[in-house]
Amino acid sequence: MSEPVLEVVDLQVSVGDHLVAVHDVSLAIGRGESVGLVGESGSGKTLTCRAVLGLLPATGEVDRGRIVLGGTDLTEATRRTWNDVRGSRLGAVFQDSASYLNPSLTVGHQLAEQLRVKAGLSKRAAHERAVELFGEVGLHDPASVFHQYPHELSGGMQQRVLIAIAISCEPELLIADEATTALDVVVQAEILALLRRLRATHGLSLLLVTHDLAVVAETCERILVMYGGQVVESGTTEEVLARPRHPYTQALMGVATIGTWERRALEVIPGQPPAAGEEMPGCRFAPRCRWATEACTSGPVPLVDLGEGRSARCVRVHDVLDGTPTETVAELEGASA
Ligand SMILES: Nc1ncnc2c1ncn2[C@@H]1O[C@H](COP(=O)(O)OP(=O)(O)O)[C@@H](O)[C@H]1O
Ligand SMILES: [Mg+2]
Repeated sequence: MSEPVLEVVDLQVSVGDHLVAVHDVSLAIGRGESVGLVGESGSGKTLTCRAVLGLLPATGEVDRGRIVLGGTDLTEATRRTWNDVRGSRLGAVFQDSASYLNPSLTVGHQLAEQLRVKAGLSKRAAHERAVELFGEVGLHDPASVFHQYPHELSGGMQQRVLIAIAISCEPELLIADEATTALDVVVQAEILALLRRLRATHGLSLLLVTHDLAVVAETCERILVMYGGQVVESGTTEEVLARPRHPYTQALMGVATIGTWERRALEVIPGQPPAAGEEMPGCRFAPRCRWATEACTSGPVPLVDLGEGRSARCVRVHDVLDGTPTETVAELEGASA
C-alpha cells in the first residue's frame, strides 16, 4: 500500500465510567481504497468511526492509540484542529441523516455555507457549486432542491444532500456509518451505487460501516470484521467472504451457504456479544463459538497473520478452514504441535 490515507494503530476507546468499548483496533486505508467495517450491533464500529472523526460522545475517550490522517497525526489534536479537518479532509455520513441537517435552513444554504467556510468560495461561487454537487449526487432539478427545507425531502434525498455536503470539499476519506441502513432496499442500492460512482469521479477513499455483508461485497476491496470491540478478521473482501477464517465471520455468513451465499442480516448467531467494559480473559467470541476449547479462554488471543494481508484472531485459526469443529483440547494441541 502507498502511504495510507488513514492509519489507526492500537486504538482503545472507553465510554461511560471507563468501560472499554474498542480494544486495540488497528486499520489502514489506502488512497482510493474502500474498506468495509462489519459486525453485529454493539461491536464498536461507530465508536471507532467517531474516534477517527474526533466526535466521541461526551463520556467517550481515546485511552490510547494513534490516529493519522494523510500523514497528519490527529491523536492529540485540539478541538480546533478537528473542526478544521472535519468537512474538509474528512467527510462523514451517518444513518440518522435528518438530525444532522438544520430544519430551519434550506439544504442549499447549508451546503453553500460549508463551501464558503471550508473551501473559501464566494457566495455566488458557493451557490453555483452547491447546485452542481446536488446534481452530481443524483438529485433531480438541483436548482429547486437548493431552496428546499430538509422536511420537504424524502429520506433518500436527505441522504444525498448529506453526501453532497460530506464530499463538497473533496475530503481524503469519506466515512459512511450505516448510511443506507434506514432506507428501503431500492434507495439503499441507489445510494451505494452513488458512493461507488463518487469513488471513481472524486478518487474518494471510503470507510463503509455496515452490518450487511452483501453491501461490503458489492462496494469494498477489503473487509474488517469487528466483534466485542476488537477486529477479529481482516483481508480482501474476496478472500474473507470466500474463505472466512474466524468462527465469528463464518457464523455471520452462515457457513453452510457459502457459495450460494446471499444477502442476509447478521443478527442470527445465538447468544449475546459482550457489552462495553465486559472483561474476558480470552477470546471474546468463545461463549458463542462452536469451536471453543479451554485454550480459547485461558489468555489473550492475538491476531494471527495469515499472509497476503489476511489475519484472524483465533486460537484455532489453522483448524478453522472448512472442516467441522474438533472438540477436545488434546486434538487442538495435536494440531498446533
Ligand atoms: N455514548 C455511549 N455511552 C455508553 N456506552 C456506549 C455509548 N456509545 C456506545 N456505547 C457502547 O459501546 C459499545 C459499542 O458501541 P458502538 O460503537 O455504537 O457499536 P456499533 O456501531 O458496532 O453498533 C456498545 O456496547 C455500546 O453500548
Ligand atoms: Mg453503529
